[in-house]
Amino acid sequence: MSERDTMDRDTSTRTALVTGASSGIGREIADMAASDGYDLVLTARREERLEEVAGMAEAEHGVSATVVAQDLAEPDAADRLHEAIRDAGIDVDVLVNNAGVPLYGEFTETDREAERGMLRVNVTAPTELTKLFVPGMVERGRGGVLNTASLTSFYPVPGKAVYGATKSYLLSFSRALAHEVEDEGVTVTALCPGVVETEYAERGNVDESGTMSGVTNDPRSVAEAGWNGFRDGERIVLPSGFASYAAQLTRVLPRRTVTDLGEQTIEEGASWI
Ligand SMILES: NC(=O)c1ccc[n+]([C@@H]2O[C@H](COP(=O)([O-])OP(=O)(O)OC[C@H]3O[C@@H](n4cnc5c(N)ncnc54)[C@H](OP(=O)(O)O)[C@@H]3O)[C@@H](O)[C@H]2O)c1
Repeated sequence: MSERDTMDRDTSTRTALVTGASSGIGREIADMAASDGYDLVLTARREERLEEVAGMAEAEHGVSATVVAQDLAEPDAADRLHEAIRDAGIDVDVLVNNAGVPLYGEFTETDREAERGMLRVNVTAPTELTKLFVPGMVERGRGGVLNTASLTSFYPVPGKAVYGATKSYLLSFSRALAHEVEDEGVTVTALCPGVVETEYAERGNVDESGTMSGVTNDPRSVAEAGWNGFRDGERIVLPSGFASYAAQLTRVLPRRTVTDLGEQTIEEGASWI
């Protein structure tokens, strides 16, 4: 029986926790989950935006949506979020680790504090949230994790070296964990989009003129591919033909060439991505 069959036949209320649900891909994933009948726990920093997303999910899909505003760059963020959800008596069946921030610039020049914050949001928070919520899924024998990684998970990116590495971490972590829990009724999926038109371009010194040119995707189609892939129990979702092609290329080209191409995604406005 496939994961989709299992989930479709189970009519009890299920809850999806979505991080970074206030905009972009996360907001769309939350809507996809609600349209599938999942109750929601929505988190990010901007509470008003989250309330708006929650209100829409409740009105359009008849699910219940709980907002917990949390800055995931705070050192104890995962514990605070977990505690708030536990105190509300909610079991999380699906964890969507989607919140993430970029930081562009040469490694010798980027701000150390901004980098620390990015590591907490992109690496520490998803790891700790997974640690806190997956054991319950294993105990219940059902559930899953959807991690928003990136096409950059597949190659190094000079000019955003640490951001690229955080996304490689998330892909590696997802693949290994998927293997560990596959017999426990729990799936793990890494969503690996190329460039997506979201508020990402306004964060982390991103040069909008450059990185938003080339092949871009809209957040809805990326979220749909990610959520459907997750429902199908896929381990890696490359949400466009181009992303698939680019990820395959990184496996056959010489490593140095792959790094050169990674650098061009910054210097030449993502022309090949
Ligand atoms: N856009 C792209 O080209 C692209 C490509 C590949 C992968 N991705 C990945 O896709 C994911 C979603 O990004 P997006 O493109 O949808 O961009 P986005 O619109 O900027 O969304 C980022 C989300 O993360 C939340 N967030 C940021 N910093 C946070 C913090 N310190 N604490 C809690 N939440 C925080 C934001 O909410 P608040 O500001 O309200 O906190 C927002 O909801 C990220 O992991 C990103 O790395 C994006």
